[in-house]
Amino acid sequence: MKILITGAAGFIGSHTSERLLAEGHEVLGVDNFRTGHRRNLDAALRQALRFELVEADVAESGVLDSLCARFRPEAIIHLAALVSVQESIANPALNHRLNITATEHVASAAAKQGVRRIVFASSAAVYGDVRALPIDEAAPKQPISPYGEAKLSSESILLDSPAAVAGDCVVRCQRYFNVFGPRQDPASPYSGVISVFQNCYAAGRAPTIYGDGQQTRDFISVYDVARANALAATSARTGLASGVANICTGRATSLLESVRIFSVEYPDAPPPVFAPARSGDIVHSLGDPARARAELGFEAEWTVERALAELIRGA
Ligand code: UD1
Repeated sequence: MKILITGAAGFIGSHTSERLLAEGHEVLGVDNFRTGHRRNLDAALRQALRFELVEADVAESGVLDSLCARFRPEAIIHLAALVSVQESIANPALNHRLNITATEHVASAAAKQGVRRIVFASSAAVYGDVRALPIDEAAPKQPISPYGEAKLSSESILLDSPAAVAGDCVVRCQRYFNVFGPRQDPASPYSGVISVFQNCYAAGRAPTIYGDGQQTRDFISVYDVARANALAATSARTGLASGVANICTGRATSLLESVRIFSVEYPDAPPPVFAPARSGDIVHSLGDPARARAELGFEAEWTVERALAELIRGA
C-alpha cells in the first residue's frame, strides 16, 4: 500500500515508518522537524526505493493537498502534533494550530483525494482523571489539558467528516496510553517517566520518584504502538468500521516496579530519590484493551520487562 505519515520523524512516527517498510509498503513521510529528528529515520531512509521524506508543515494550508495529489496515498497516518501537555498549556494557540488545524487539513486533503483510511494518534489524555479502572472507550471524556481537548476535538473532526460518515473513509482513532521505547527524547523535561529514568540510570544518577512510587501506568512499547498503527492502516478485515480504540496493554506497572526492573539491568545504580507528588498528577491509569483486540485484532506483545531490557541494551 501507499501510506502517507505525518510526523514521520518523531518518536512514534519513525517506528511506524520502519514497521510499514518492513511489511513491504511504500511510505511518504512528512515532518517539520520541530520535535522530530532526521536521524530517527536513518534506517527508513536506507530503503530509498520505498521511502521518501519531505520537510513540510502540515498545519500550513495546501501542504497536504499537494502531497496527496502527488503521492496518491491509500491511507494517511496522522501523528504530527504538539506532543507536550505542558506546552499546550503555555501556548494554547500553537496547540490549536498543530493539534486541530493540522487535523482539519488531513480531513480535507483525504476527502479531495478519496483516501480510504485515516489513522489518528489520539491519547488517553482524552479521558482526564478517570477513577474507574480499567478505562474503556465509553468512559467519560473530561480532558484536563488543552492537549487532551485538542485530541478529543480532532477525533470528532475526523469521525464526523462526510467521508467517514458515508463509510467511504475508515477513520481509526488510536488512544495511546503511556508509550515508551527508543527515540523518546530523554533530554526533554516533558518526556515520559521511563525515558527520564533511563537517562538517569545511564548517567549513573539517581532517578527522582514524585510521590511514593505506588502510582501505576499502562506502559506500552513503541514497537507495539507502531504495529497497532500499521494494522489500523492496512488491515483488510471485513467490517472494519470507523471508531476509537485504546492502544494499551491492560497491565498496570507501578513506578517502584519499574525501578526494580531497572535495577536488574543497573545493579550498581544509586537508589531512587523521593520528592513530593506533582500537583495534578493522577495516581492510577490503566486501559482496557478489549476493543482494539475485537476490532483490529491488536494485542500488545511486549512486556514492560522485555521492552525495558531491550531499551537499556540498545542505549
Ligand atoms: C502524562 C503527560 C503529562 C499529563 C498527563 C495527563 C507525558 C510525558 N506526560 O503524564 O504531561 O499531564 O499525562 O494527561 O506525556 N514521574 C516521576 N519522576 C520523573 C518523571 C515522572 O516520579 O522523573 C512520575 C509522574 O509524577 C507520574 C508518573 O511518573 O506519577 C508518570 O509520569 P509521565 O510519564 O509524565 O506520564 P503521566 O503522568 O501519565
